[in-house]
Amino acid sequence: MAELPEHVARNRAAWNELAAEYEPDGRRNWSQEEPAWGIWSVPESELGVLPAELEGRDAIELGCGTAYVCAWLARRGARPVGIDNSEAQLATARALQAEFGLEFPLLHGNAERVPFPDASFDLAISEYGASIWCDPYEWIPEAARLLRPGGELVFMVGSVLALLCDPDEGEEVPVGDRLQRPYFDLHRVEWTGEDAIEFHLNHGDMIALLRANELEVEQLIEVRPPPGSTTRYPHIGLEWARRWPCEEIWRARKSV
Ligand SMILES: C[S@@+](CC[C@H](N)C(=O)[O-])C[C@H]1O[C@@H](n2cnc3c(N)ncnc32)[C@H](O)[C@@H]1O
Repeated sequence: MAELPEHVARNRAAWNELAAEYEPDGRRNWSQEEPAWGIWSVPESELGVLPAELEGRDAIELGCGTAYVCAWLARRGARPVGIDNSEAQLATARALQAEFGLEFPLLHGNAERVPFPDASFDLAISEYGASIWCDPYEWIPEAARLLRPGGELVFMVGSVLALLCDPDEGEEVPVGDRLQRPYFDLHRVEWTGEDAIEFHLNHGDMIALLRANELEVEQLIEVRPPPGSTTRYPHIGLEWARRWPCEEIWRARKSV
């Protein structure tokens, strides 16, 4: 096997360690009939993230983790495949497949190099998977390659604004209302005391990258949790998230 890029190897080790912690969230999401997105679990009916027509569509989840997004797609009639870099996350996904009686292929690998031919899928999706742990200059061209003409790329990430306002003093110190780092030249991000490596682009660079890969931006959903929402991620407070977007979902379509 070819040697993994440094960030992929580091993220593999980090996610193998984190996997057990994410199992309860995985089960909770698998057991939900209606998809609910992000740290505030905003229902699909409010956000409209998924394509309206999924019956018979080939879909790939890039960085599927516990694979609940694949499960939501399968229940809507799609044919999902999940790929993830962590054996431990995939072990949870397989256990949840058995528990919920739903089978679809799960591959162990790097979402920057996916072992499928060009134009294999109608939908490529990532919810905090490849979308933050892979280098966008690698995974977005790869997603574009995998999509058929007219296919959709949908991905969720933490917002650029929340990233800029994060004091980087650990999970207990919440995101504030002051800019802490530059907007320009965003790319690789390493948080103090954390092993995993994230990637983020500012909006101008993201749009340029999508367009360079024949992906036309159709929508940028800036998630606003409804009043009274609760989260298991206290790093961002509800008051903050009601005033500024703390998460964003991009929808882009491959040129025909
Ligand atoms: C927060 S989870 C998101 C997945 C899913 N929504 C969930 O919560 O279970 C992040 C996942 O991205 C995966 N990941 C990180 N780097 C990856 C890469 N290069 N290729 C594929 N998956 C990757 C991790 O192994 C992890 O399972």
